[in-house]
Amino acid sequence: MNINDVKKIAVIGSGQMGHQIAMLAALGGFETVIQDISESALTKAEKSLNGIMNKWVSKGKITEDAVNAAFARLVFSTNLKEAVQDADFVIEAVVEKLEVKRSVFKELDTWAPKHAILATNSSTIVNSLIAEVTERPEKMINMHFFFPPLVMDCVEVVMSSQTSEETAKVTMEVCERMNRTAVLLKKEISGFIANRILGALNKEAIYLYENGYADYQDIDLIVKKALGHPMGPFELMDFSGLDVVYFVQNQQYQESGNPLERPAKCLQEKVEKGELGRKTGKGFYTYEKEEVK
Ligand SMILES: NC(=O)c1ccc[n+]([C@@H]2O[C@H](COP(=O)([O-])OP(=O)(O)OC[C@H]3O[C@@H](n4cnc5c(N)ncnc54)[C@H](O)[C@@H]3O)[C@@H](O)[C@H]2O)c1
Repeated sequence: MNINDVKKIAVIGSGQMGHQIAMLAALGGFETVIQDISESALTKAEKSLNGIMNKWVSKGKITEDAVNAAFARLVFSTNLKEAVQDADFVIEAVVEKLEVKRSVFKELDTWAPKHAILATNSSTIVNSLIAEVTERPEKMINMHFFFPPLVMDCVEVVMSSQTSEETAKVTMEVCERMNRTAVLLKKEISGFIANRILGALNKEAIYLYENGYADYQDIDLIVKKALGHPMGPFELMDFSGLDVVYFVQNQQYQESGNPLERPAKCLQEKVEKGELGRKTGKGFYTYEKEEVK
């Protein structure tokens, strides 16, 4: 298989990540289908993409014709079998729970053509843990986009010991056609590179906050002013979604069994209260209506 054999991409899950990944694929010239079990998630996705593309056109980032051509290549579906049965490349972006991903990949392995590459956009789970439920571990790969994918120009492509060189090469070329800078990791590790570094920063920030050394606003201020980060760790956690950060920490804890890796108490409390950050209007900070996507 080579890049020219990739005509159609299916993206599974149309949440914060999936809908924008699908738009990148459509803008990159691929026939694209985006699938979600939730009809309302698909409606929200279409509305969000229309809004973003209108902004791009008004700023002169893209022509209206290019946007119309991309939308003509993009199909929305709630039916997994129909979405993937003629796909050459599948990118999964459903919730960060191993058991959900495994059940999705079992179905993908059943319905997608035998030649199709199956990629996961997981923030932390290595593909070998998911590949176990498929009969094509050599065609499994991590393709980790960053939030928001239409803005952030980086993808971590991660091979397991069973991923073939051909799968890695095609995946890198798919990223290139999607106009994203891809970096290849030839050896897998949970959390990959960016999130391991970010996770260490978040853990330290939460430790300092929970133990009363400084308030979260002041920690954010110091990280921005002294370290030159564009956002503080608490602002960034709110931006990504506290549920996502919590699931990531929980997954790492489940994998290591190390009590020191237990998810932070303040995160668990916020998730239980439904205070998930910017997307719900409240996380560590409170957001005005127009800031909530
Ligand atoms: N949010 C981030 O900053 C970020 C960054 C990089 C990677 N990721 C990863 O991307 C994935 C998705 O995260 P998100 O933030 O977009 O989550 P999200 O909650 O916004 O979206 C998940 C979507 O998946 C759908 N879904 C759930 N089960 C499904 C199934 N069985 N079949 C089809 N659709 C299903 C849900 O309806 C929802 O629309 C996760 O693995 C996450 O770790 C997230």
